[in-house]
Amino acid sequence: RIAGPCGMVLFGVTGDLSRKKIMPAIYDLANRGLLPPGFSLVGFARRDWADQDFAQIVHDSVKAHARTEFREEVWKQLAEGFRFVPGDFDDDHAFDQLRRTIEELDEERGTGGNHAFYLAIPPGFFGNVVHQLQEHGLSTPREGSWRRVVVEKPFGHDLESARELNTTLGEVFPPGSVFRIDHYLGKETVQNILALRFANEMFEPIWNNTYVDHVQITMAEDVGIGGRAGYYDGIGAARDVIQNHLLQLMCLVAMEEPVSFDAENVRIEKEKVLASVQLPARLDKTTARGQYAAGWAGGEKVGGFLDEDGIKKSSTTETYAAVTLNVATRRWAGVPFYLRTGKRLGRRVTEVALVFKRAPHQPFAASSVEELTQNALVIRVQPDEGVTLRFGSKVPGTQMEIRDVNMDFVYGGSFTEESPEAYERLILDVLLGDPPLFPRHEEVELSWKILDPILAHWAKQDAKGKSKPDPYPSGGWGPASADEMLARDGRTWRRP
Ligand code: BG6
Repeated sequence: RIAGPCGMVLFGVTGDLSRKKIMPAIYDLANRGLLPPGFSLVGFARRDWADQDFAQIVHDSVKAHARTEFREEVWKQLAEGFRFVPGDFDDDHAFDQLRRTIEELDEERGTGGNHAFYLAIPPGFFGNVVHQLQEHGLSTPREGSWRRVVVEKPFGHDLESARELNTTLGEVFPPGSVFRIDHYLGKETVQNILALRFANEMFEPIWNNTYVDHVQITMAEDVGIGGRAGYYDGIGAARDVIQNHLLQLMCLVAMEEPVSFDAENVRIEKEKVLASVQLPARLDKTTARGQYAAGWAGGEKVGGFLDEDGIKKSSTTETYAAVTLNVATRRWAGVPFYLRTGKRLGRRVTEVALVFKRAPHQPFAASSVEELTQNALVIRVQPDEGVTLRFGSKVPGTQMEIRDVNMDFVYGGSFTEESPEAYERLILDVLLGDPPLFPRHEEVELSWKILDPILAHWAKQDAKGKSKPDPYPSGGWGPASADEMLARDGRTWRRP
């Protein structure tokens, strides 16, 4: 899979995402020989830069963040295709110049009129940029070539704004040319959920409410919000992570086998899951939210969320969120899906755990099995990528004592191939026009439909002064209310 002749135009070149993820991923793709030799990258920003200045920015970002070795000859060839267009988003001259630049690149580098416009900018500007692209004849490909647009989350902040955003994009680009990035879908271990389920015979028969007691999907981060106060305050953990990454993970765990793995058939199955989600009646008892307080991170004392630069002392933005979702289908009725995410927790870990019911009968004395917990299948998304099966085993000795043991599949132990970074995979898919790993607008809207009532419930609590996010110490495992939420169901969170 090597991309054909093409180029990319990057909006938002000075942002974190471009420097840490997008630029390094482009270099890594080039280094792996997956980009066409004449690939071009045009940076667009309100900066007084020449092409060389832009090349220097990319160079620094590649040196700092690329995963593959720096090779001068690869870099030189890639950098020959770099151009910079200065201007802001409503500057007509700048977009004219962008068009001329692209036409020149088609001549000089043989990009064939094929260009992806990557909007690594706040969604508030999507409308300006796509309309400018349209007005300056950049969005419509000439015969036999393509134009695509790539957008990053947040795809709106509720259902209504997500719809508006989708309408805006849809006015300019046909659905098949819009690529929404949810970088979790680019992760190797996330794609492996489908391989595990549908390429094997042994899991699918127990993948249902006859055997599964509940599902826990966890994305824990040990870092705080860093320098992202401007983005994060008012957004919070549920919008930042549950609306996209965690609901997508849930879809892959809960969906039926698609007719095939083409984008349309995968989307159909994911949408069915999202459309079947029902919220429990009592949102006060089945959701939890928290805000990190002072505590520890990486062996050092740290302040809380309200002490972060740029955060208002009165902020009720949650940095931890947990929700209970029911998937009302024959397969999943009665199996709660618990989704949680938080910043400044004890460890960075993302995992999906299917926790199985207890054996209906134990022929062993109660004392033999008192330490045995429920069987679990844990898909370790990151770090320590792999899969763990937890089950009971006899402790060696003269007595019958049964305890939990783990059977582990570790990527590094079974494969010598290195996993590509999520952004490498996704950018390559954009350039190849391969859409299965990109959420469609229907999925985005259905996800907001699930989240909106929860957000409205929290906002109402705030407005009435009834409750706000519970503080939890940095370095711990979230607020007590999240533990209580599971305890009410007679369950406990895993401590990964
Ligand atoms: C992003 C969120 O989508 O994912 C961030 O906006 C979060 O808040 C990040 O830190 C985590 O990504 P990863 O790949 O490091 O788990």
